[in-house]
Amino acid sequence: MRTVALILAAGRGERLGAGQPKGLIALAGRSLFEWSAAALGQAAGVDAVLPVLPAGCLAAAQALDRVWTGPARLLEAVEGGARRQDSVEHGLAAARGRLPELSWVLVHDAARCLVAPRDAEAALAAARATGAALPVVPPADTVKLLDGDRVRRTLERDQLGLALTPQAFRAEILAEALDKARRDGFTGTDCASLVERLGVEVRVFPGRPGNWKVTHAADLERAAAALAGGGRGA
Ligand code: CTP
Ligand code: MG
Repeated sequence: MRTVALILAAGRGERLGAGQPKGLIALAGRSLFEWSAAALGQAAGVDAVLPVLPAGCLAAAQALDRVWTGPARLLEAVEGGARRQDSVEHGLAAARGRLPELSWVLVHDAARCLVAPRDAEAALAAARATGAALPVVPPADTVKLLDGDRVRRTLERDQLGLALTPQAFRAEILAEALDKARRDGFTGTDCASLVERLGVEVRVFPGRPGNWKVTHAADLERAAAALAGGGRGA
């Protein structure tokens, strides 16, 4: 049991505004965290999957437990925290406690419910070089660095990448990155941003555009259609 996939579903989903945590919303018969957990549970090299759920919502894991087909082991879910990185900390601590041999951690946004097993396999393969890997896709739009209502500058589009998940890390690197962020009072919106601050090279590799994140209300219909059609292609 060397590799765990943390399925982060403890966010409030404020941009979605559905009145319930985003990861617990059901599309095409399953909740977003169930779709994500099932896909990563089928990835080669993933030994265990650990859902990180909103406080007070651990019972939501029971339905998944009853239908789990693996082959990875489904670990008992834990509650997340206020910030995404707090949820990662809770998940990592639980995984380390339960899997003494733990050496690799995949961190995945449950809201990327179109994730495929090969996305996890690609992240683990890319992380071998430096101990940290990040899938990126090119932005479709031109990106501006802003200062209020003024443009500071226009960023070179071919130098930009949008960060996806699953991201893969050596367990000790991720633990150190979380510790340093805590000491420094740093908050990041993904795990790679915490690891970058250690001076560890995060190896970038091409992500799959089809592995996009449900964020706004309009995304729900598109994701439901893709899931119902088995759509994990592009
Ligand atoms: N997440 C988490 N714990 C948090 C915050 C986020 O586990 N404290 C998870 C979310 O559940 C989601 C993933 O991290 O699957 C990516 O975060 P995001 O898309 O920002 O989701 P939310 O934080 O739920 O949404 P919003 O920012 O719109 O409130
Ligand atoms: Mg958020």
